[in-house]
This record gives sequence, C-alpha cells and structure tokens, in this order.
Amino acid sequence: MRAVVMEEFGGPEVLRIRQVEDPVPGPGQVLVAVAYASITFVETQVRSGDGPFGRPALPRVPGNGVGGRVVAVGADVDPALVGTVVVTTTGGEGGYAELALARAQDVVPVPMGLELKDAVALLADGRTALLLYRQAEIKPSERVLVEAAGGGVGSLLVQLAAAADAHVIGAARGAGKAGLVTSLGAASYVDYSRPDWLDRVMEATGGAGLDLVFDGVGGRIGTEAIGALRDGGRVSIYGMASGCRRRTRRRPAPGPLHRCHRAHRGAEPCPGPRARRRRAESRGRRETAAGHRPDVPARGGGRRASGDRVADHHRQDPAHPRRRCARLRSEPTCPPSPLPEPEPGSGSP
Ligand SMILES: NC(=O)c1ccc[n+]([C@@H]2O[C@H](COP(=O)([O-])OP(=O)(O)OC[C@H]3O[C@@H](n4cnc5c(N)ncnc54)[C@H](OP(=O)(O)O)[C@@H]3O)[C@@H](O)[C@H]2O)c1
Repeated sequence: MRAVVMEEFGGPEVLRIRQVEDPVPGPGQVLVAVAYASITFVETQVRSGDGPFGRPALPRVPGNGVGGRVVAVGADVDPALVGTVVVTTTGGEGGYAELALARAQDVVPVPMGLELKDAVALLADGRTALLLYRQAEIKPSERVLVEAAGGGVGSLLVQLAAAADAHVIGAARGAGKAGLVTSLGAASYVDYSRPDWLDRVMEATGGAGLDLVFDGVGGRIGTEAIGALRDGGRVSIYGMASGCRRRTRRRPAPGPLHRCHRAHRGAEPCPGPRARRRRAESRGRRETAAGHRPDVPARGGGRRASGDRVADHHRQDPAHPRRRCARLRSEPTCPPSPLPEPEPGSGSP
C-alpha cells in the first residue's frame, strides 16, 4: 500500500509517500480502508520534533484518526464488522495510509446523515471538546471566554457553551474570524491581536469579569485571559498552541475552580479515576460520531484533499478552521448503522 512515511523530524516536506507492506490485523484488531485521515495540531508538533510527548521512534507513519470501511478483522473480532463504515483512533500512528489498523473496541460506526469527512474531523476535537465541556459544568448566563475560537477545539467549545445558554465571548486573531465565531453562537467576538483586547473582554462581561476561561493558546493570551477572571472564576487549560506556557500568580481556589483547573492541566483532557475517564471517552466517541448532541450542530472542517496532499494540510495556516482531515480515497457510502447502546449510568451532557 501507499503510506505517508516520516523518516526525520522537520517541516511538512518530511512527510513523503512511500510504498510499504500492507498491515495485517492481529487478534482484536480491524483493518480499515482509509477514506479520510484526521490531522490535528499535535500531529504537526510531533512532525516538527517538538511534540508534547517527546520524540517517537522513526521511521513512522503518522496519523491517529481515520474513517473508512472495515475490510478485514483479526482473530476474536466479529466478522460482521467487515463492510461497516467507521471512524476510529489508530492508537497514535498509522493513519496516513491506504490501510490502517485499529482495535475493534475503538471503532465507531458512522450513523446515517453524518458525512464521513465530518465524523473524522470531529474524532479528536469533538472528544476533547466534550470532555472539557463536561468538566467545566457551565451554568446558564455564565460569562465564558473561548480562546482560539476559530480553531478545531475552540469552535466546538463555542457551540457547546452557547448551547448551555452561557454568554460566550469568542476570541481569536484578526478581525476575519468574527463572522464565523458569532455564527457558532458567541454573543461577541474579540480580536486578541489588538493591545486592548482584554478591555473589550471586560466590556463584554459588563465589567463583572469572566466566570470561565477555556485556554488552549497559553503564553501571553492565556496569562492575560486568566487575569480577567472574577474571583472564584474557573480556568480550563487544555493546550498551548502559542508554544509558550502561561504565567500567572493566581492560585486556584478550592471548589469548582480548583477541580476544573486541576482537571485540565497539560495536554490530558480528562485525568481522574481511570474508569471515569474510559467511560467518558467512549461516550465522547459515540456522541462525536452522532454529531455531538442533537441540539448542537456539528461544524467540523473536513477540507478535501488527496493523500498526496497530506503535507499540504500540515503546511496550512494553523489558524485555518478547515484543516481537519485529508481524503485518501473515494468515500464509501455509509450503511445505516445503529449507534452502540449507551453504557449504564452514562447520562448525557
Ligand atoms: N485537538 C485535540 O483533540 C486536542 C486535545 C488536547 C489538547 N489539544 C491542544 O489544544 C490546542 C488547540 O488544538 P486544536 O486541535 O484546536 O488546534 P487548531 O485547530 O490548530 O487551532 C489552534 C488555534 O490556536 C491559535 N493559535 C494561537 N497562537 C498560535 C500559534 N502560535 N500557532 C498556531 N496557532 C495558534 C490559532 O487561532 P488564532 O490564529 O485565531 O490565534 C488556532 O486557531 C493545542 O495546543 C493542542 O495541542 C488539542
């Protein structure tokens, strides 16, 4: 098969198409004929050798999420899965290829009415956004700042917070994203490339300060945003797209702030007891495949491109909201496939 192989760390040009052996599914695994591979911010960092989890061994085929048809299964896997159109994590690598392996327990059938490219685009960002949203326990009318509101996770957080009746202030770089961010449900938009952006945020809160900040940018923006919290406000920290840590002397208070702060530190979206995390992740995957919640329109990106152009997607402006997946082959038609039954006691957001 053809695959995108990374033999060194560096710019997008290190992603090269190579002919490699077809993978063979082992026990508990399925083989997916990849129609779309998702592309995340973290994958661009790993490619550059500057990822949050250190440098993986090379050569490697990147790609942590795919969508396509199951074409073979290994031992101990229900053969009825063959032919099903699914989205799935690959467990970290192998997705930028014509064929990818995944654990059978990770695959999510794509329901009718959801385009495969949207399901793939939502795979990572949707799960992350839902976990963050749940942890934040947003109440109606709370003043919520979403940074990088035009980005993958940020654009979903805007929609989720708005659906919870929060007063959402979307912030991003430049004036050009205002239309997008307000169309997603933000009550107002602030351009954080302007020196007075924090004044605009405070104005948008009526001077009261923020109840909650979703910080995926870090650095100067994250630091300043935390300074606009009201006393007892909460901050959900889930990334540092600017490449810099945030610096603040403000200490988390006990209670919801502390819980939220602790829960979202670093790249881990939802630490805590293992079982709780596993349950939440599998619920997130199911709901992501179903387009989040019925009342939240899924606005994943899903820019189309051939597999030869995966590197182009890595090269694109990271601020572009439609950079989320690359097409590797023609799209299979989704059969009507029911979602798995929810786990007992899982509830809804
Ligand atoms: N996707 C996930 O599932 C996931 C999971 C855990 C953690 N994270 C972390 O969350 C953060 C955002 O991830 P994402 O997937 O939403 O990324 P994304 O779609 O690429 O969006 C990143 C956003 O960050 C903003 N940004 C600010 N400074 C930047 C800089 N120097 N370079 C690039 N972008 C910059 C950009 O918006 P403006 O240009 O408008 O500022 C951009 O829209 C990353 O730190 C990522 O590691 C993501």
